[in-house]
Parts: sequence; structure tokens; C-alpha cells
Amino acid sequence: MHLQKLVINGGKKLNGEIRIQGAKNAALPIMAAAVLCGKAGEKVTLRNCPRISDVYAAMRILTYLGCKASFEDGTAVIIPENVSRPEISDELMREMRSSIFFLGAILGRTGRCRITLPGGCDLGPRPIDMHISALRKMGVTIKEEYGALDCRAEKGLTGAKISLSFPSVGTTENIMMAAALAEGTTVIGNAAREPEVADLAEFLNRCGAKINGAGGGKIVINGVKELHGCDYEIMPDRIACATYLACTASAGGELAVTGCRPWDVESILPVFEQMGCSVYTLDDKIFFSANRPLKAVNPIRTMVYPGFPTDAQAPVMASLCKARGTSVFVENIFESRYKHVAGLTRMGADILVEGKVAVIEGVNRLYGVKTEAPDLRGGAGLVAAALAADGTSEITNIQYIDRGYEEIEKVLSSLGADIKRV
Ligand code: EPZ
Repeated sequence: MHLQKLVINGGKKLNGEIRIQGAKNAALPIMAAAVLCGKAGEKVTLRNCPRISDVYAAMRILTYLGCKASFEDGTAVIIPENVSRPEISDELMREMRSSIFFLGAILGRTGRCRITLPGGCDLGPRPIDMHISALRKMGVTIKEEYGALDCRAEKGLTGAKISLSFPSVGTTENIMMAAALAEGTTVIGNAAREPEVADLAEFLNRCGAKINGAGGGKIVINGVKELHGCDYEIMPDRIACATYLACTASAGGELAVTGCRPWDVESILPVFEQMGCSVYTLDDKIFFSANRPLKAVNPIRTMVYPGFPTDAQAPVMASLCKARGTSVFVENIFESRYKHVAGLTRMGADILVEGKVAVIEGVNRLYGVKTEAPDLRGGAGLVAAALAADGTSEITNIQYIDRGYEEIEKVLSSLGADIKRV
């Protein structure tokens, strides 16, 4: 797997229609939440689950915990009746950052949990201080020793009023899962408003939870005794949608996206329009065309939802490398999320990074090069740029890309790109 690479011959316009995969950042917390469904004989069926390595990793964690878990053609079936091992092995924790989402669910179900500190993409320090302080407010004692967290709530979890200094997505989701079966009511103030948070709440309510306000800044969870299973369809992936729009903007051409939720990308579509692309949305479809030279856009500030999402920064930056004029990004969410700039510069882009700010001077041409994906979305950005480069690019470390994109080379080939996985 790690020796694979993508070979891309740039210069081909994209043309066609694609269906968007299920959302990675909804599927992962929802798979963790399945652990809470302890009613005997129950099962959880998750449709539209993306076939990506992070989902396979989550399946391995569920199995390690004692659940029965199977996954075929986009549907995960989880039988969480027997959660016998309230811990996640170090090796499994290292596979992805999102394993931290299992903490709240395992605690909610068993009252105990032992995990090591998360791995995942290297996006600057990935602290979990907010997760820890929130769970402590719910009666969890957490001891940190040799890089592992030993968490216990001997008397079970109790509801609490928790205000977040920053609307952290993972923290909001962990509290929601820990609170679902807790004694009493939990109120989250300054909660994350991302659509994936609302998708998790919708799933939990389908299983019998009592959660109100998800998607807004104040979420109220009334603890219940037990959760049953349910049959749920994961929402479409808004970042994958933005990525394929960025690939089309970069390479030029026409794209119809189906099975998406245009409302979720409301803050991204205007950026493409400012670039000179035309965008038309109808129900679960987006009709997109990039047939004129692109114009620079600035500034693009990444913000929490409903602002421009940090996960779309790299792909959209790639599409601006050949735009006319000067584009400016301000990355406000993660410390160092410009690792893809090195690869773009190698391709001939003219980008200056100063702390949170990246300044992109449009150039006339990009050149195919050998480079490697620095992380998930940075890797997708390099693919988007390679589609617009003259000559052949080879991108290695594509295991990062496979964490979040289902068969990216097949999707892009179906649109006419000359891209192969070797
Ligand atoms: C989720 O990560 C997503 N991952 C990320 O997507 C996404 O970039 C991020 O939300 C922001 O939208 C999943 O949903 C699996 P945060 P998460 O907690 O929960 C700081 C992708 O590419 N922070 O909202 O980790 C943190 O360091 C991934 O799909 C603390 O300081 O994001 C970061 O600077 C990448 N202390 C900021 O908050 C904490 O305890 C945003 O983090 C927690 C977070």
C-alpha cells in the first residue's frame, strides 16, 4: 500500500458526472457511536459509508472492542452487544487521529477506557485538552501515564453544563456521545455547528437518544437508559465535493455532482464563482463549469462552520496556482496546514507562506514533478494541481489520500483525467 503512487499526465480537461461518497467525518464518529447501542440483539446498519482506510481502521477498532463488524459495498453492519475490552491498542490509536472519538462512546457504554494519545495527519499540535476537561466535568477521572490515558467513571457519567472556548468538532461529538447514556442533562455551549455534528445527533436520536439543537451553537442532551440499533444513511462528503470542484476548476471543464448537499458547501461555492467558474445547484446536484481563465481570489479565511472549511484550503489553493492575479489564504483553524505548498512550489507555483497567511501569485504554467502527499487534504491539493500541470507528475505517500477519498483515481479517470495508481 505505502509503495503505491499516482501517475498523472496533466493538461486534460475534466468532463462528466460523479456521485459524491459518504462523509468520512460523519461516518467515523457515527461508527464510534454504535458502541453505545448496547440493547441485546440490536444491530447498526450504516449505508453510504465511504470505502476509505479510516473507515477500515474504525472497523478494526470496533472488532478490537468486542463488537461484530462487517463492511461490504458501502454498508457497515455493526453488532455492538458485546463490548468486552474498553480500550484501544496503541497500534490502532496510531492509525488515525479520529480514534479519539471512540473515547466518549466507550466511556458512555462501559464507564472505563484506556487509550494512547492519537496519531493521524501531522497538522501541527493536535491537543485533546478540551476533550479531557469536558469529560472530567462529566465525572470521568483521567490519569495520563507514559502517553496513555486511563479514564474511569466508576459511578457512571453525569450530565454537565460545558462551554467550549473553541467550537471544536471532535470535542462536541465526544461530549454528545458520552452524554447520551449519562445520568441527567448535558448542555454544550459554543458547540461546533459542522453538518457532521448534526448527522451524528440524528443517528443517535434514531437509536433512542434525546439530543436537541445539534447544528447550532447550543446542544442539549438528556441522558437515556439504553440505546437500540438503527438503519442509517451517512450524509454526503462536503469536502470530497469541494475537492472535485477544485480539480475541475484547476484542469478546466464541466462537472455535474450528484448525491451531494449544496447547502453544506454554501461558503465554498461563492469562492469558485469569484474565480470565474459558473455554479448552478438543484436539489442534490451541482452543475459546475470552468471554461475561462481563472481569476485570483482574496482573502480566503478558513473558519469554523458555516465559514470556509479548513479542509478545502489545500484543494482550492491548488486551483488558484494558475489564476490571474494574487490570491491570499488565512488558515485560522490549524497551526501548520501549508505542508502542500512545498509540492506546489516544486510544480512551479509562486507561493509565499508567512505564519497563517499564504500569498499565491498566479503563474502561466505548472510542470509535472515527482512529489509526495504530506497529509490527506494536502495530497488532494497536489492531485488537483497535477491535473493542470504540463507533463507527468508522480505523487507518492498516497496512503494519506486513501484515508479520505474513495478511489480518487477512478473518479478522476471517469471524468477524462489521465491518472493511474501504480
Ligand atoms: C475535525 O477534526 C475533522 N476530523 C477535521 O478534518 C477538520 O479539519 C476539523 O474537524 C475542523 O473542521 C474529523 O471530523 C474526523 P477540532 P478535529 O477539534 O475534531 C484545536 C480531515 O481532513 N483543538 O475542531 O480534530 C485543534 O488543535 C480532517 O478530514 C484544541 O486545541 O478538529 C485545531 O487547531 C483534518 N484542543 C482546532 O482546535 C482540543 O482539545 C480544530 O480542532 C481539540 C481541538
